[in-house]
Amino acid sequence: MDSDLIKLVNKLQDTFANLGGELDMPQLAVVGSQSAGKSSVLENIVGRDFLPRGSGIVTRRPLVLQLIHTPVTEPEPTYREWGQFLHIDKRFTDFSEIRKEIEQETFRVAGQNKGISKLPIHLRIYSPDVLDLTLVDLPGLTKIPVGDQPSDIERQIRSLVLDYISKPNCVILAVSAANVDLANSESLKLARSVDPQGRRTIGVLTKLDLMDAGTNALDILTGRVYPLKLGFIGVVNRSQQDINSEKSLGDALESEAEFFRSHPAYRNIAHKNGTKYLAKSLNQVLLNHIRDKLPDMKARLNTLMGQAQQELNSFGDAAVYGDANQQGALILRLMTQFARDFVASIEGTSIDIS
Ligand code: GDP
Ligand code: NA
Ligand code: MG
Repeated sequence: MDSDLIKLVNKLQDTFANLGGELDMPQLAVVGSQSAGKSSVLENIVGRDFLPRGSGIVTRRPLVLQLIHTPVTEPEPTYREWGQFLHIDKRFTDFSEIRKEIEQETFRVAGQNKGISKLPIHLRIYSPDVLDLTLVDLPGLTKIPVGDQPSDIERQIRSLVLDYISKPNCVILAVSAANVDLANSESLKLARSVDPQGRRTIGVLTKLDLMDAGTNALDILTGRVYPLKLGFIGVVNRSQQDINSEKSLGDALESEAEFFRSHPAYRNIAHKNGTKYLAKSLNQVLLNHIRDKLPDMKARLNTLMGQAQQELNSFGDAAVYGDANQQGALILRLMTQFARDFVASIEGTSIDIS
């Protein structure tokens, strides 16, 4: 994630907290058919290997992943980052252990045989490299029950997904695989049902590498097929073969970039596709969200300044009568100055970090 954005958000969150308010960041949820690549996309955004991925139904409980910005305090910290589940009192510093724990906890509640459960797994990741942001990995939309799944599995998963994406504060990553006709995309249908204007939906097209020879998704990626305000972004995630051979995230990003650069149909739009561009676009969505919150923040500051000024006036000459009052007046004066400077700095801030 962009380090300037991390700094900005943390500063604003601290300031808001000091003012007794809250800068609530949006949630980000992935929607799509089974095996469309949802978990892969989320993992790429976080930039760590820790989510169970694979063919068939792997994600069988919602995973509510809270990223928590944790500055490095000690000169030589024991851990820079770690994970912590709600259901177990243990610090996970090895991310592959996190994946195993997600798998075990899925089995424990949702059974051994493809069943799903609404009960979310809560995981927090503490790291200096993240923003305070909540990402939600969700089971895939499916039609036909398999294994232990009840006959109304389609309805159940749909309602589970809707619980998350119908919140106005939720940014929807609508994931579709490029080797399936977009007209059949369940993710877009469901996203449209809660976000008809397409204001908080980003289209993500996965598996561009698996399209039939001679076909391409240029029309979709350039917005000529399905209109979305935030557009479509094509990505190439790690294949099952890559997962089996433990291909690293860094190597995967490199081959993805090479795919777009060298592809005759995508060469010209290479800079507007891929995982890195997706992350950048998300940053922009977050910044827009913050910008929407700034007026509220300014209003709070103005109120505070007004109160401080009134109290200052009420001290008046009385300030000379005692040390305590004098100190109080001084603190108020400093606070007012701080608030004024802060308002000025917001007004001068261009938050278009792109
Ligand atoms: P989910 O069920 O939507 O969460 O999908 P996963 O992320 O678990 O991926 C399902 C399978 O598709 C895995 O075997 C992935 O390796 C594979 N996969 C996901 N995205 C891509 C992609 O862009 N290209 C290729 N070749 N395989 C992908
Ligand atoms: Na899957
Ligand atoms: Mg998944």
